[in-house]
This record gives sequence, structure tokens and C-alpha cells, in this order.
Amino acid sequence: MLSEKSIVGVIGAGAMGSGITQVAASAGHSVFLFDAKEGAANNALKKTESSLNKLVEKGKMSQEDVTALCSRITVIDSLSGFASADLIIEAVVEILEVKKELFSALEKVVNASCILASNTSSLSVTSVAAACTNPERVIGLHFFNPAPLMPLVEVIPALQTKDGLAEDCKSLMQAWKKVPVIAKDTPGFIVNRVARPFYGESLKIVEEGIADMATVDAAMREKGGFRMGPFELMDLIGNDINYTVTETVWKQFYYDARFRPSLIQKKMVESERLGRKTGKGYYDYGENAVNPVAKTDDDLSSEIVIRVLAMLINEAADALYYKIATAEDIDLSMTKGVNYPKGLLKWADEIGLEKVLSILDSLYIEYHDDRYRASVLLRQMVRENKSFFN
Ligand code: NAI
Repeated sequence: MLSEKSIVGVIGAGAMGSGITQVAASAGHSVFLFDAKEGAANNALKKTESSLNKLVEKGKMSQEDVTALCSRITVIDSLSGFASADLIIEAVVEILEVKKELFSALEKVVNASCILASNTSSLSVTSVAAACTNPERVIGLHFFNPAPLMPLVEVIPALQTKDGLAEDCKSLMQAWKKVPVIAKDTPGFIVNRVARPFYGESLKIVEEGIADMATVDAAMREKGGFRMGPFELMDLIGNDINYTVTETVWKQFYYDARFRPSLIQKKMVESERLGRKTGKGYYDYGENAVNPVAKTDDDLSSEIVIRVLAMLINEAADALYYKIATAEDIDLSMTKGVNYPKGLLKWADEIGLEKVLSILDSLYIEYHDDRYRASVLLRQMVRENKSFFN
């Protein structure tokens, strides 16, 4: 049973590992941090300390709390330092073979009851677990970037995970002041599956010349209520990362047209226009850059928002149909993991399921593309005059 006294290990001191370390230490755990690259874990700890010190300057945290939090983190230089750990969270590179080798090596140093968790965003947790002699102890704990700020954690039991472990992890994540949801081990889990059309359908609209990216971004922000437009967000995430997630999910779904990536994005990656981090993506972030201006056309904006929204709702409904998670957890995931203004299923109820279905069916008739096939659940619910909630 995991508790606040549990000793936590984190492997990988990159963006995610350092954030998860901070979250665990902030919840009072002793945390051991390891990174294969020399100096990386110490550098990560220094960075955490300096970002926490900024909170002290702003009066949001006391110096004593920062000192106490950092004193709970110990950098170790080999896996054997994890011998006393009760829970280890892995956040190393997103390569299945690397994760499998690591989990197998870990089993040789940790005690029999130690839980091994992976922060993978797109690999199969079941496949990672298969590398272990005791796969029952393996689970996915998927945090969102930046981990100290984003509340959502997807808890993903593998096929082999022992009964009760997901609930146990869920309680621990609540103690860490996170919002945990339990998701089935399927491609993209909840968020990275359901959110695909936010990017994919927006790219399609631009590809077809229905609207330019600035107009799509403005429509999704101003009419849709999203914090950022899809192109601005892809530039922030990094086009390489966003494209890889899309391609991985599409391949894992046996090339389902609903998840088909866009050639526009592929070209962005090929030309190394990766977004903010390279100074150029869909938009130019250089000094004196001239960027496209959104068209003000109310009808066009409405058309864009309802089309992207219908596609998002379709994925949320399909995730529910395949019991990836409960309706409540699907909605929580999108508001707490990617800041959507509303849960998609609640939004669907407000728009009316019949209207959502008719938008999808019109697109399907127009394109004859499987990409626009409506979820069976949506069709059944319309037939039975049902809504997702109440
Ligand atoms: P990163 O590249 O910032 O950090 C990875 C760290 O792992 C590096 O410091 C590297 O030296 C270390 N490392 C690589 N192989 C290692 C090994 N065998 N043993 C020990 N350390 C090793 O990567 P990032 O972004 O932190 O991602 C880590 C994991 O979290 C990936 O599985 C990724 O898919 C997942 N993830 C990433 C999110 C993001 O937005 N960056 C969000 C949620 C999950």
C-alpha cells in the first residue's frame, strides 16, 4: 500500500522527471532522482531550486518550505540507489526498448513490493510490463507538462497489473493534490486520443483552403473559448512532438483514417520549423516578424468551431463507447489535462447530440472518408433520445 511515507524514485531528469520529482517532494516524500546523463540530475535539481526561489521572491512559498522540499530530493548515480524505493516513476526517452531494458534492470535492484510506473505518453504500458518478471507491479502514471502545474494524471493499469493497484495509485495522486483518472491501456490513453482532431481537423481545414491558420486559431480562441488556437498550441508543444504523437496513435490504431496525420505538419517537421523552440513554426517568432492576420467572418468562424468540436466530441464519445474511461473522467481529462473550456461530453449535451451527429454525417456524405464516421455510441444515443449526463 502506497502512503505519504513511501519512498519515491524518479528516473530521467528531463522536463517531466524533474517536474514529477518536485511534485512528489512537495507532497512530503523522500525522492531519489537518477539520470543516465552525467550531471543531468544535479542540474535539474538546481533548476527546480531556482524556480522555487522565484516563488519565494513572489511571496508564494516560504524559504523554509523550499529548503525542506529540496532536502527531500537525493540525486543518485546508479540504479542500485533505488533499493529502498516503494514506487519508481520512469520518465526517460519515449523508446519502448529503452523503457523495457530499464524496467528489467530495475527489478534486479528493487524490493519485491516496489511499484514500477511509466510516464509514457504513447507507448503500451502492457508492453513495458511484459519486460518484467513480476509485471503485476507495473502501471502507467501519465503526468502532463509542466507536471507541477497541470493537475491531471492518467492512471493506466496494464493488462497484467494487479487488481487494486490503480485505485491505490489514484489515492496517492489525490494526496499529491492531482486530479487522477483511470484509463484503459489503449493508444493515446484519454487525452492524446480524444484531442487529436483539435489539431488534425484544423490542419485539414487549412489544407483544403477553407480558412487560413490565423483565422482557425482566432475562431477556436474567440468563438470556441479555447485558451490557444491549434496552430499556436502546436508551435508551443513543438511540431516534432505533436506530429510523433499523432503518427504513433494513428499507427497503433491500425491506420484508422480518423487519426490520419497531416502532410502540412510533416513538412513543418522536415523543414525543422518546430515552433517556438526553433523560432519558427506555423508562425514566425523572430523580431520584426510579420504574421498572418485572422479574417473576421462570423459565419466562417462558427463553421470552423462546430466542425472541429463535432470531431472532438466524436472521439470523446468513442472513447466512452470502448470504455477507455468513464464519462466524468473523459470530461475531467480534457479540462484538467489540456485546459479545454468545457468537458466535451457535457458540451455535446449542450449542443444537442442530434446536431453533432448531423454535422458528422454531412461531412461523411461529402467526403466519403472513414475519418468522418460517427461513433456508434453517438448514433445509438440519438436514436434513444439520450444525453451523456442526467
Ligand atoms: P526529456 O528528453 O526532457 O528527458 C529525458 C531524460 O531521460 C533525459 O535527461 C535523459 O538523459 C534521460 N534518460 C534517457 N535514457 C535514460 C535511461 N536509460 N536511464 C536514465 N535516464 C535516461 O524527456 P521528457 O519530455 O521529460 O519525456 C520523458 C517521458 O515523459 C517520455 O516517455 C515522454 O513521452 C513522457 N511525457 C512527456 C511529456 C512532455 O510534454 N514532454 C508529457 C507527458 C509525458
